[in-house]
Amino acid sequence: MVRKDNVAIAPAEGKLGVLVPGIGAVTTTFIAGVEAIKRGIAQPFGSLTQLSTIRLGKRTEERTPLVKDFVPLAGLNDLVVGGWDIFQDNAYEAALNAKVLDKTLLEQVKEPLQAIQPMKGVFYPEYVKRLHGTWVKGGGSKMDQAEMLMDDIRNFKASSGAARLVMIWCGSTEIFHEAAPVHASLKNFEEGLAKSDPAIAPSQIYAYAALKSGVPFANGAPNLTTDVPALLDMARERQLPLCGKDFKTGQTMMKTMLAPGLKARMLGVSGWFSTNILGNRDGEVLDDPDSFKTKEVTKLSVLDQILQPKLYPMLYKDLFHVVRINYYPPRGDAKEGWDNIDIFGWLGYPMQIKIDFLCRDSILAAPIVLDLVLFLDLAQRAGMKGIQEWLSFYFKAPMTAPGLYPEHDIFIQLMKLKNTLRWMRGEDLITHLGLEYYD
Ligand SMILES: NC(=O)c1ccc[n+]([C@@H]2O[C@H](COP(=O)([O-])OP(=O)(O)OC[C@H]3O[C@@H](n4cnc5c(N)ncnc54)[C@H](O)[C@@H]3O)[C@@H](O)[C@H]2O)c1
Repeated sequence: MVRKDNVAIAPAEGKLGVLVPGIGAVTTTFIAGVEAIKRGIAQPFGSLTQLSTIRLGKRTEERTPLVKDFVPLAGLNDLVVGGWDIFQDNAYEAALNAKVLDKTLLEQVKEPLQAIQPMKGVFYPEYVKRLHGTWVKGGGSKMDQAEMLMDDIRNFKASSGAARLVMIWCGSTEIFHEAAPVHASLKNFEEGLAKSDPAIAPSQIYAYAALKSGVPFANGAPNLTTDVPALLDMARERQLPLCGKDFKTGQTMMKTMLAPGLKARMLGVSGWFSTNILGNRDGEVLDDPDSFKTKEVTKLSVLDQILQPKLYPMLYKDLFHVVRINYYPPRGDAKEGWDNIDIFGWLGYPMQIKIDFLCRDSILAAPIVLDLVLFLDLAQRAGMKGIQEWLSFYFKAPMTAPGLYPEHDIFIQLMKLKNTLRWMRGEDLITHLGLEYYD
């Protein structure tokens, strides 16, 4: 068994400041949920950091502490949230607009939500074509905008009394764009900021400001953002953890649960047709083909990696995979996702699976925000830098070191996450090898 010495982890003392670009449906559902849990009127369903246990040692030892008792995480009472948006609504008004939570619940947490007034956002409309922000920082180069964000970060830290900070992007999905020469090194990137290079997206300006301020960064959207050498190098040099991209909720979560099972049974898949209707602001943004393309790329990649058609051509080489998202306002945040899966088994006989998932996007995403915030802060206190692959569990398109493929199978992702926690605390990693038979 692999056993390591304990990783030195600084204690979670003082407040943890959570900085969020984008105070929309997901962010307000996260904040309202944390406030409701703190008041004892809700439970943290869906949150691994709050509810999950972790098995330690042999099964006979019966040691299964809660994750939050096993590793030192910030407590919910220590979280202070601030953020930016391109609309002026405070978090209470934004929550009302998002229509995720019912009014009775929102009234009970109105006060802390109302107190969160967004700072003016950094916004370039060519990156999110469907929105016309009115609460934006004016003037100057992209570097000037980054410096304004750094001032915001300093001011927030001072006014909130936070001992540590993390930033998590919950802003809209930006258009599909690929790494350009300006992203190749930090030098190029900083020159590009000074010249307001059009290939630098708003989310990259926030990420740069975070890293430059010594703040770990997570990306909840599928945007390119930190997936470029300039920002990856910067995170490593500054000893900062990073993770992304695109919260794994809804249809993709189901896909990464089901596909590993079909493959485990060596059942073939000839087609997987996925379609969604949703009517929130996220749906409106994704109605723009350029923003949808960013999402489509992350959504399509998961099956290929899980099913490995190159290793199993007879089963998966002809798989026809289609993903659609349709903006349909009547549904608001209560998305509906349909999957039709054409599979085949013994002697090639075809079968079909139909899924109709009446899900709630932000209800699934909010606990992910909570877990990522707490784990990213843990990683920072444990001295872990660069891409945190052990947090792939939470993402549709997990970031990986260059040249490596991402792991999408949710069960492997969970094992990796829990083994990383065991490793941090000097516990045996669990391999399920059953060596006790040979004792
Ligand atoms: N809800 C989910 O289940 C889920 C899953 C995966 C990914 N995501 C992603 O998370 C993000 C947030 O989702 P949501 O449902 O809360 O969307 P939303 O539209 O309700 O909120 C996004 C907010 O970001 C703001 N914004 C846009 N550009 C900004 C900028 N440059 N600076 C500051 N604010 C900016 C918008 O005004 C909006 O208030 C989206 O990118 C979405 O694709 C959501």
